[in-house]
Amino acid sequence: MTNGREIAMCGIVGFVGRGNAVKAVVEGLRALEYRGYDSAGIAFFKKNKLTSVRACGRVADLEAKLSDSESSELAIGHTRWATHGAPSERNSHPHSDPTGTITLVHNGIIDNYATLKAELEAEGAKFSSDTDSEIVAHLIAKEYKGDLLAAVESVLPKLDGTFAFGIVAKDKPDTLIGARRGSPLAVGIGENETLLASDAVPVLPHTRKVVFLEDDQVVVMTADGITVRENGKEIPFTPTEIAWSAEAAQKGGYAHFMLKEIFEQPQVLRSLVHNRIHIPEDASLPPELNMEGIDIPADYFRGISRIVMIAQGTAYHAGMVARNMIERVAKIAAYPEYAADFRYRDPILDPSVLVIAITQSGETMDTLHGVKLAKERGCKVISVVNTVGSSIARESDGVFYMHCGPEIGVASTKAFTGMIASLYILSLHMGLARGTIDAAEARRRAADLANVGPRADSVLTTANYIRRIAMKYKDNGNFLFLGRGTGWPLAMEGALKLKEVSYIHAEGYDAAEMKHGPIALIDENLPALFIALKGRRYDKVLGNIQEVRARGGKIIAIASHDDHEIDKLVDDVIYVRAESGIMNSIVCSIPLQLLAYYIAEARGCDVDKPKNLAKSVTVE
Ligand code: AGP
Repeated sequence: MTNGREIAMCGIVGFVGRGNAVKAVVEGLRALEYRGYDSAGIAFFKKNKLTSVRACGRVADLEAKLSDSESSELAIGHTRWATHGAPSERNSHPHSDPTGTITLVHNGIIDNYATLKAELEAEGAKFSSDTDSEIVAHLIAKEYKGDLLAAVESVLPKLDGTFAFGIVAKDKPDTLIGARRGSPLAVGIGENETLLASDAVPVLPHTRKVVFLEDDQVVVMTADGITVRENGKEIPFTPTEIAWSAEAAQKGGYAHFMLKEIFEQPQVLRSLVHNRIHIPEDASLPPELNMEGIDIPADYFRGISRIVMIAQGTAYHAGMVARNMIERVAKIAAYPEYAADFRYRDPILDPSVLVIAITQSGETMDTLHGVKLAKERGCKVISVVNTVGSSIARESDGVFYMHCGPEIGVASTKAFTGMIASLYILSLHMGLARGTIDAAEARRRAADLANVGPRADSVLTTANYIRRIAMKYKDNGNFLFLGRGTGWPLAMEGALKLKEVSYIHAEGYDAAEMKHGPIALIDENLPALFIALKGRRYDKVLGNIQEVRARGGKIIAIASHDDHEIDKLVDDVIYVRAESGIMNSIVCSIPLQLLAYYIAEARGCDVDKPKNLAKSVTVE
């Protein structure tokens, strides 16, 4: 059902019919809060007048602003996960044009909104928000002459980017129009009512007959039913009878959130790069890097003496990966540290040290206290965070939001690769600011990163093959993960993934450490996984593989797609196509995630909620 390319950024819900539209939409928004929750809003017809109510915060905050007696036959609603514009009531959806003729809710990113906004401003348009979504309400209102469908279909081709819309006109209290491209839209067909939503969850309490719109399709909805259109023409459609439970629907048809989030990575990475990097036509110019949230002058970066990255768990491993990038690109010493040790060690700090906090949740207690300590010592703090408006984000001088969408599985997957990509973009920004890379190198590196989506797609096509490998090793009680250079933090991350979801003891090591102890463990019952991509240390890793092989150890290798030798040395090979350090780090992470997932699933573990763990460690 879900091809794993759609990305949770926000949630939209719409209802038209003889029921209570306000109640249906509010309940639907609550069911979608797992997709994002920094603001919420609803628009509904009340005595034929279209009324909008919005709230910064959770759906409960919106509900508190609605009187119990609100009822209506048409409503649209939205729960927001900020992409453009900070979380605030003014940026909350629904959005309308200044005359209130058109009101809409939107999930996705309009890439060409700046151009469209400039054209509208040149015609005198005034805007009430910083969002890309509001532009579309203006454009539809401009075309609207009483035929809402015609106005919508004339605007959609002008938009670049992704969208799922719910659109209403103030003089059409019985018609709701939906449209999608790249962001999911499910349409429910009930008795005297129809609904649309970002996924099937809000629809299920009303009906199990659901149509999942495809890209560039439009749906016209009334109480009596729907019509689906493509290229301006009505097309036949076949509703799906949804057998899922509501929770299964949140997973978009995947067995677990962890698997869904692993498969979201290509789209998450495409969206992250799309949002943050623009490569100008003129080859003499460096890439334009969108450093939204990092309002720090370039000469600050020229004056820093070193960088300390503080984090825990997977985020710490991302910092270990980032060290190599930052030192190579920005030519500044960079030190990943466990925040828990940093905050109690009385570290040597002064205002010339830049502290980067890396955290998905933005609530990890040790990392938060590390940030506070750094600020007490006069250091600037930049945080790389996924959760908008989180405590660490609020405490930092600059915030690089990853916008990976909510990560529900306790085991961090898309956030890890999102951190690596974000830290790489930050490294490029610092390198350009410090003059340690020129425009040509910055363009080359940015273009390389822009390929990460397709590279992640291609390694995901080997998921079933990786599952077969996982079945061979699912009953082992111990595992070693080994790599050199960037392969070392990946080995640490692979070991963490496996142990936290499958409860198999696993250790990650720099492969150079083999002779300093771990090799004593090697025997036929201890599988070793090597990250063995071609590169500067490849021959050394092969040497380590030979050492394990000589002692009867079983070996899995993650290897370069064009390596035709390694399969003679190991028991199983997972090939990945990667040509650079940044690509290796991201692309090699995915097989490690899948291996851990499939072994845990085969062992009957609670993959999304492993025992003893919490998604965010907000205690010390
Ligand atoms: C990773 O899979 C774990 N869930 C855990 O190590 C996590 O990375 C760590 O607790 C840090 O969380 P944060 O990124 O939200 O700060």
